[in-house]
Amino acid sequence: MTELEQFAAPGSEWWRSAVIYQIYPRSFADASGDGIGDLPGITSRLDDLKTLGIDAIWLSPFMTSPQKDAGYDVADYRDVDPIFGTLADFDEMLAQAHARGIRVIVDLVPNHSSDQHEWFQQALAAAPGSPERARYIFRDGKGENGELPPNNWQSVFGGGMWERVTEADGTPGQWYLHIFDATQPDFDWTNPEVQEEFRSILRFWLDRGVDGFRVDVAHGMVKADGLHDYHAPTDADSMGGGEQNVPYWGQDGVHDIYRDWHTVLAEYDGDRALCGEAWMPTLKQTALWVRPDEMHQTFNFPYLMTPWDATQLREVIRESLDEFGAVGAPSTWVLSNHDVVRHFSRLALTADNPQGEGIGPLSKGKPDTAVGQARGRAASTVMLALPGSTYLYQGEELGLPEAMELPDDVRQDPTWFRTNGERYGRDGCRVPLPWEADAPAFGFNESGASWLPQPAEWATYARDVEQADPDSTLALYTQLLRLRREHNLGTGSLVWEDLGADAVAFRRGGLHVAANLGAEPVELGEGVTFLVQSQPFEGTALPVDTAAWYVKA
Ligand code: GLC
Repeated sequence: MTELEQFAAPGSEWWRSAVIYQIYPRSFADASGDGIGDLPGITSRLDDLKTLGIDAIWLSPFMTSPQKDAGYDVADYRDVDPIFGTLADFDEMLAQAHARGIRVIVDLVPNHSSDQHEWFQQALAAAPGSPERARYIFRDGKGENGELPPNNWQSVFGGGMWERVTEADGTPGQWYLHIFDATQPDFDWTNPEVQEEFRSILRFWLDRGVDGFRVDVAHGMVKADGLHDYHAPTDADSMGGGEQNVPYWGQDGVHDIYRDWHTVLAEYDGDRALCGEAWMPTLKQTALWVRPDEMHQTFNFPYLMTPWDATQLREVIRESLDEFGAVGAPSTWVLSNHDVVRHFSRLALTADNPQGEGIGPLSKGKPDTAVGQARGRAASTVMLALPGSTYLYQGEELGLPEAMELPDDVRQDPTWFRTNGERYGRDGCRVPLPWEADAPAFGFNESGASWLPQPAEWATYARDVEQADPDSTLALYTQLLRLRREHNLGTGSLVWEDLGADAVAFRRGGLHVAANLGAEPVELGEGVTFLVQSQPFEGTALPVDTAAWYVKA
């Protein structure tokens, strides 16, 4: 394991090494005081992000939407939903971010629209076989009177993947396909009209000056010919990350779409970038999204899904650098987002929790808070030393745990409703951020309203409290980001080191990185000077669930 050099691909484009901070607009900062975050709220907090030291922000959807899936159900791709503000607010936010040297990526949702989208409303009003219906995936049902769905596919959010419509004359009619909620009908991406519409939507935002797109469900847009039945394994990850050969995930045709989009972005200056959300089972498959003529980045979900285990963590890092390197792309790294249990809780779970399941009052295997904090900090300390681009999710810089005790009646994730409460879903990672311990809604706004209730103990995670504490998670992240920049850790090579089976250890030039994932301290040896410790300790033995960056005499 020693002296094996692994390289991030060469090239100077910003996205190869950027630290990109995900803003979930509903829950970041709320200037209007209605309890839902908004674009002016984001603008008002950009200085805090600048101080943190990130390079770019990615905004989850803020476009016009009935919010059935928190904005991932878009009714108008070229406008801002009033709950988030206006296009002018967006332009102002973008200008203010750029003025601070922060790039801006927006979320694009091309797999499906809202059922309130003009096109879908036209499709409902039109006849079977019409050009209006051909923009979506309408089919006749099976059975004598078409009363059975066209196939047996199951929605990611639970229940069947087909919804039957009532035709204009009042009779039960065709069915349409929806991978997610019934309010999110899938587009038919074989239709040139759909392809042209999205080229135009890309240009709309590129012309406004965005630096790129995070592409939602980038592995789902093309369905296998014939729409044949598929029996998912019962233990399947809901977004496909654990399954092979699924007829609606990772079909070859999706890559043609991204090759096309690549040429659209290349018309613009400034290294505009695409980042795909493709939950594929292996890194080799994941890397197909970032071949040189396709997307620029894709999320490294195999890394996110790796449990707190040294052997598996070493292996996924090694394989990530190999597989992304083989196609000339940087690896990305990510531990948290708005769809998974926050890693400050997840890494200490003692029972399985598949993607999208969430944690609630009755969940098994809930984490110990102290263990979660220690592992969360150690995991981030390793991640921020790796070559490539890193995605952070709002609140992880505060060490926020998952909100695990949300009452049933405040839940909003469609997963909760479509599974009749069997899966809690993702609300626990989406609770509005605490900014000030002593303010209404912890400073999320001035009114005290909050679309999901904030746990009382979040006062201790508030940004103002952590800013005043040199040992806080915020202080750790700020220090890691500063050193990452000073030592140019986003690019270059990694040399593995051997500190035993329970350690993950490597060298970035003269900077050593080690994490202890075992049950006993790991001795680092003589002449060690620490640059960062994920939590304070004395001596040269790395405590359990701890990571450090250091130099050696
Ligand atoms: C993506 C989003 C998720 C959303 C789904 C449907 O996975 O990250 O939040 O529910 O797509 O759009």
